[in-house]
Amino acid sequence: MKSFHAKYSSASVLLCFCISSIIAVVVISGHHFDSPVIISDSKQDRYTPLWIPVVQLRSKLKGAYHRLAISDDPSSTIQRFHSNDFVNQTSLVNFVNLSSSQEFEPPLNQRHKIPKRKASGEQKLEQGLARARASIRRAASSPNSSSTPNDDVLFPGGSVVYRNPGAFYQSYTEMEKKFKVYVYSEGDPPMTHDGPCKDIYSIEGRFINEMENGAAGRRFKTENPQRAHVYFMPFSVTWMVKYLYKPLTYDLTPLRNFVSDYVRMVSVRHPFWNRTLGADHFMLACHDWAPRASEGNPLLFNTSIRVLCNANTSEGFNPQKDVSLPEIHLYGGTVSSKLISPPPPNTLRPYLAFFAGGLHGPIRPILLAHWKNRDKDLQIHEYLPKGLDYDSMVLKSKFCLCPSGYEVASPRIVEAIYAECVPVILSEHYALPFSDVLRWEAFSVKVEVSEISRLKEVLMGIPEEKYGRLVENLRVVRKHFELNQPAKRFDVFHMILHSVWLRRINLRIA
Ligand SMILES: *[C@@H]1O[C@H](CO)[C@@H](O)[C@H](O)[C@H]1NC(C)=O
Ligand SMILES: *[C@@H]1O[C@H](CO)[C@@H](O)[C@H](O)[C@H]1NC(C)=O
Ligand SMILES: *[C@@H]1O[C@H](CO)[C@@H](O)[C@H](O)[C@H]1NC(C)=O
Ligand SMILES: *[C@@H]1O[C@H](CO)[C@@H](O)[C@H](O)[C@H]1NC(C)=O
Ligand SMILES: *[C@@H]1O[C@H](CO)[C@@H](O)[C@H](O)[C@H]1NC(C)=O
Ligand SMILES: *[C@@H]1O[C@H](CO)[C@@H](O)[C@H](O)[C@H]1NC(C)=O
Repeated sequence: MKSFHAKYSSASVLLCFCISSIIAVVVISGHHFDSPVIISDSKQDRYTPLWIPVVQLRSKLKGAYHRLAISDDPSSTIQRFHSNDFVNQTSLVNFVNLSSSQEFEPPLNQRHKIPKRKASGEQKLEQGLARARASIRRAASSPNSSSTPNDDVLFPGGSVVYRNPGAFYQSYTEMEKKFKVYVYSEGDPPMTHDGPCKDIYSIEGRFINEMENGAAGRRFKTENPQRAHVYFMPFSVTWMVKYLYKPLTYDLTPLRNFVSDYVRMVSVRHPFWNRTLGADHFMLACHDWAPRASEGNPLLFNTSIRVLCNANTSEGFNPQKDVSLPEIHLYGGTVSSKLISPPPPNTLRPYLAFFAGGLHGPIRPILLAHWKNRDKDLQIHEYLPKGLDYDSMVLKSKFCLCPSGYEVASPRIVEAIYAECVPVILSEHYALPFSDVLRWEAFSVKVEVSEISRLKEVLMGIPEEKYGRLVENLRVVRKHFELNQPAKRFDVFHMILHSVWLRRINLRIA
């Protein structure tokens, strides 16, 4: 068992920033747009009746859950923070309509006078993106064009699982041909150029390492920042929490300061940040506190692409420009081999639904209050009874419940996908990963918090035939959630990059 906080109470600031006090007039590059790239096929964009209408969480929960506590898994003692406000949120996003993918515009007050970029290299870059945009748009509007993969190997059941398989395939291929990422070299490990590769936040370190050193990363990485479409700031919020945060202080200032200093450093040393006010820059972090850390720079928060596990739309996550990152729990560095080898299709799964986990966050107490030890078909536990094994329970259940904990994302979703146990999303304000491309309703079930009391009825109401299709579709999307070393086409690394690419092609820099 690793103690994540005990030994690191003294802040070890590894980076030294010498900020020059040059006063510069910030001339901001503006953004002119033509119509955005639409990945979705709006005609098919209807939610199935499985998606039950939104009702608000009871406001009496307000303030009831803001203790500091430890993550789900006993082996992970990373401290988790949760917000004390309970906002009466009216606009819950079931599915990000990124499809909608309206071109992101920086906030009005940040759009100033816009100079033309001079270098023809930059113009070429933009022209290349314009061509990519046009070809994706063509693919989107003519689903049977020659470039559409009728390829059943890559896209079996394509039109069900993908919002628009042709557009996605075209966009993905354009990304492979063109996309260039510049990774800032500023900063020292561990808080930059490194990150956790084990436990619940592992995707953070895995992505940074793949991007900087992996074969797939090298394919997209450019050493020439003039040729880059996006700029990656490779800092790890999980390691900031480990090295900078003083346990039990609840004080996130050191994290915000680190982020603020990092952005200031790259914006002083390089011309790129100021050119777009950070709109073509991205950060990636899985820690619950990453959104709070990103407050360290208002432009990073409001304008840059933030790739976050904690994709809570009521805490500033903006699906038009931010990217929802799947949380993948690697116990000791790997996925349980049992989970990733589900039994053959049609094997009897004796339980209707399964959940075991602590009372974290606002939703799980409701779930457990209604269903703990109530019904033998619904195996819902706070602590798994002795003699029962977590992975076996997942494999023996038709549906796996994935309630939010202290933050919206849950590693259970990806585990359920691997185990071919249909995920039941129990969350509010959660922008689901890759929902600009994937139709989550084709391989998962969403149950609103207000419907938790009817959970059994809702799940029993799903016809066997429909259930079969959900499972089939899980097998199709699984590759998009797999973390490979080395990374493989269409796997989670590439899907994350594709999400960033999609936001970038909708941003035109004059
Ligand atoms: C809170 O939500 C309820 C239900 O949607 C709504 O009727 C009410 O007006 C909201 N209150 C505020 C202050 O927004
Ligand atoms: C998606 O966005 C478009 C454009 O903003 C809108 O017309 C459409 O109704 C949206 N679709 C859904 C399902 O929200
Ligand atoms: C596209 O292909 C599908 C099946 O391959 C076919 O049913 C459909 O009619 C085609 N649509 C057009 C516009 O050609
Ligand atoms: C970018 O703007 C900041 C703040 O206005 C300024 O301090 C910095 O020197 C500028 N960077 C460059 C490379 O000009
Ligand atoms: C983001 O923009 C909003 C609206 O301009 C502003 O109120 C907020 O403070 C900004 N967020 C941060 C973290 O600066
Ligand atoms: C998402 O953000 C809202 C607003 O801060 C908060 O009330 C809610 O608890 C958050 N969701 C989770 C699961 O943390």
